[in-house]
Amino acid sequence: GHPVEVPMPAETGYGLDANRLIAEMGADTAAVVLTTPSNPTGQVFDPEAIRAVVEAAADCGAYVIADEVYAGLTYDRDPRGIAALTGHPEHVLTVGSCSKTYAMTGWRLGWLAGDRTVIDEVVKIHESTTACASSVAQNAAIAALTGPQEPFEEMYDAFEERRDYVVERIAGIDGLTAPRPDGAFYAFLDPEGVTDSLAFAKYLLGEHGVVLAPGSGFGDAGEGNLRLSFAASLDELEEGLDRIAAGVAARSP
Ligand SMILES: Cc1ncc(COP(=O)(O)O)c(C=O)c1O
Repeated sequence: GHPVEVPMPAETGYGLDANRLIAEMGADTAAVVLTTPSNPTGQVFDPEAIRAVVEAAADCGAYVIADEVYAGLTYDRDPRGIAALTGHPEHVLTVGSCSKTYAMTGWRLGWLAGDRTVIDEVVKIHESTTACASSVAQNAAIAALTGPQEPFEEMYDAFEERRDYVVERIAGIDGLTAPRPDGAFYAFLDPEGVTDSLAFAKYLLGEHGVVLAPGSGFGDAGEGNLRLSFAASLDELEEGLDRIAAGVAARSP
């Protein structure tokens, strides 16, 4: 098989355009990957659009692979996962992780939830490639998932505050726009006139000392954009956005 990229339009803030995706699906579609909240755009997909795509996948006999590693960091939208939103949970394979919600990236602990027959086959490959996550990480994940959630709730509030700060700052920078992120910790910046995002990222790093991920790293459709991560303190974000503003202004005609 071969992967088919179906970029979502910037004009609608990279939301899920179900018709655009369904138009690319057919009898030979094995699986459709939906990442919500999205990296790099921070968008959370509309439940109606999600339902339409899952319906279409079920009609094609395809699975929806739901990458929901940022589900815990959903701010203004319905935080329920795709399997819970749809009438066809048996067609949904949900990917989750402790990396984002519990800041446990280094522990390498995630999961796949879905139809037993698929999971049994996945386990065969998993066992012979990685054996298993370490028991230390597994016990840490149990503690994170079943223990007191206050530390996570504090971080959730901090991320929401950072999101609001970043949105407000971007609105005040001439020549810079980004759709408002509803989840994750990214804003996908669209600096006016930038066509080579890698060159612009190198310029911002070299001349202004601030790091953004070039949009081209997320596929051809990301060219011209830059991803800002707000997994940083408010003070660091203030300084970083000052530098971005200076970099954009210095490049403006
Ligand atoms: C959308 C998405 N899925 C999955 C992952 C992988 O996370 P993990 O650390 O659990 O491997 C990332 C990490 O950045 C991500 O952005």
